[in-house]
Amino acid sequence: MNNLTKEGDVLFPNGKKPEALLQRILELSSISGDMILDSFLGSGSTAAVAHKMGRKYIGIEMGEHAYSHVHKRMKSVVSGEDQSGISKALNWKGGGGFKFYELAPSFITIDEFGNPVIDSFYNDTKLIRAMCKLLNYTFAPGQKDYWKHGKGQGNNSIYVTTQMLSVAMVQQYQTIKTNDKNM
Ligand SMILES: C[S@@+](CC[C@H](N)C(=O)[O-])C[C@H]1O[C@@H](n2cnc3c(N)ncnc32)[C@H](O)[C@@H]1O
Repeated sequence: MNNLTKEGDVLFPNGKKPEALLQRILELSSISGDMILDSFLGSGSTAAVAHKMGRKYIGIEMGEHAYSHVHKRMKSVVSGEDQSGISKALNWKGGGGFKFYELAPSFITIDEFGNPVIDSFYNDTKLIRAMCKLLNYTFAPGQKDYWKHGKGQGNNSIYVTTQMLSVAMVQQYQTIKTNDKNM
């Protein structure tokens, strides 16, 4: 516990776990290449140890310390600058990498009348991207066919709109599609 506060060069009083303890736990419960999940990442100790031990890992953190502690700490693990914790015992010299994602807000929010509505964060492009992702289409807006927002399996495409689609509009797309095929 002696140098715990200094580990990873991030201060995180009342919660930080020693890297050596986490190393012992990962040694007992996993092998190289296994996936480690810490959904309460705190200062990032689990991710730092998993990385140095050659494990894959997912860390989740809701606090600002995701940026101020975890991101900073992991960059220094990857560069090899972090020589604290278990680094010296493992002869850690750096290497590897990580992806850092920010969760978007919930898609649906409740408005002042108590109705579920799409969150204003989602402008047209974000809405289309989100629907493509959720419904397994590749985001690929058509250059000439404005109703093609994404590609699916085979010839399937997706059109995302917040407007009510009339039968006439659908028939119009159908006509253009049929004409395209005949050309
Ligand atoms: C005790 S700390 C973990 C400390 C970590 N083991 C370490 O060594 O640095 C718990 C963390 O869980 C985070 N947390 C709590 N609820 C959460 C949630 N629902 N989603 C993501 N993180 C959460 C808190 O912000 C806090 O940083």
